[in-house]
Amino acid sequence: MNLHKYLNEKKNIIEDALKKIIYSNTDTPKIYESMNYSLFAGGKRLRPIITIMACELFDGNINEVIPFACCLELIHTYSLIHDDLPAMDNDDFRRGKLTNHKIFGDGFAILAGDALLNKSYEILFSLIHNSDNKEYKKAAFKISEASGVLGMIGGQALDLFYENKEIPIDKLIEMHDKKTGALIKASLETGAIIAKADEKDIKLMGDFGHLIGRAFQIMDDVLDEKGTLKKLGKNIGRDSINKKATYVKHFGLEQSEKNAFDLIFEAKKLIRVYGNKSKLLADLAEYIVKRDS
Ligand code: IPE
Ligand code: IPE
Ligand code: MG
Ligand code: MG
Ligand code: MG
Repeated sequence: MNLHKYLNEKKNIIEDALKKIIYSNTDTPKIYESMNYSLFAGGKRLRPIITIMACELFDGNINEVIPFACCLELIHTYSLIHDDLPAMDNDDFRRGKLTNHKIFGDGFAILAGDALLNKSYEILFSLIHNSDNKEYKKAAFKISEASGVLGMIGGQALDLFYENKEIPIDKLIEMHDKKTGALIKASLETGAIIAKADEKDIKLMGDFGHLIGRAFQIMDDVLDEKGTLKKLGKNIGRDSINKKATYVKHFGLEQSEKNAFDLIFEAKKLIRVYGNKSKLLADLAEYIVKRDS
């Protein structure tokens, strides 16, 4: 199947599954409105889609992996709402719309982020509670570890700490790997774990995720300089205004893009062992460095 078609097909599946998770509640409508606003603002759904891809690579059951994939998207969306807050990146546009706090105010944006994060743990706990499947526990642990201080939050903390400071290259890479790479890596591992893949395959998926996750954030930094609001759905030039330590600031545009392409080349090499079966994953890796949105 062609990647574009696959992305569309799986995106629709994820949208439908997410719609069933967050329904409206008439007692406290504003928090639901705020959660739904960001969740359905038009994200690419890349993390849940790669979770499904990894699961399918090892002949797993897509219906079984979808709730885990949704949890990753809930956590990702919460991280974006908080990332955009005035106390963090102070951004006005996200997913082609005004940021959550611009519509609902900072308080509700904080609560909507918290609620999406909590909702994902509620789902993970109920999955574990209702099943003896040890893979569920393992996947839930991976997702929680990747989202926490050892992963995404740790990376966001480095991002804030190094605003307006010189960052050593190893810290820059650590920041990228944690703030963005960790969740992407966990998405691939989750797909493989739920498919009951062998330990060595789960590890290989993790290594692949680590490489494409790093490339993803490098390209995010590149697109902040050379992308467009129309395509990206977020304002550009924000990193330099916020005095962020970015890959582009360190290496320049050309070298950054080259390094991202090299990482993708390495990532694609890793999955060659799966032959033709991994073609979609290889195409997805390529898309990460060629995307404009
Ligand atoms: C943006 O992620 C934030 C980063 C972690 C770099 P995406 O580019 O995947 O954003 P959406 O989900 O499509 O909006
Ligand atoms: C965000 O990195 C990473 C997150 C964990 C949310 P950025 O701050 O560069 O993401 P954008 O550019 O605002 O999407
Ligand atoms: Mg940020
Ligand atoms: Mg940001
Ligand atoms: Mg960015």
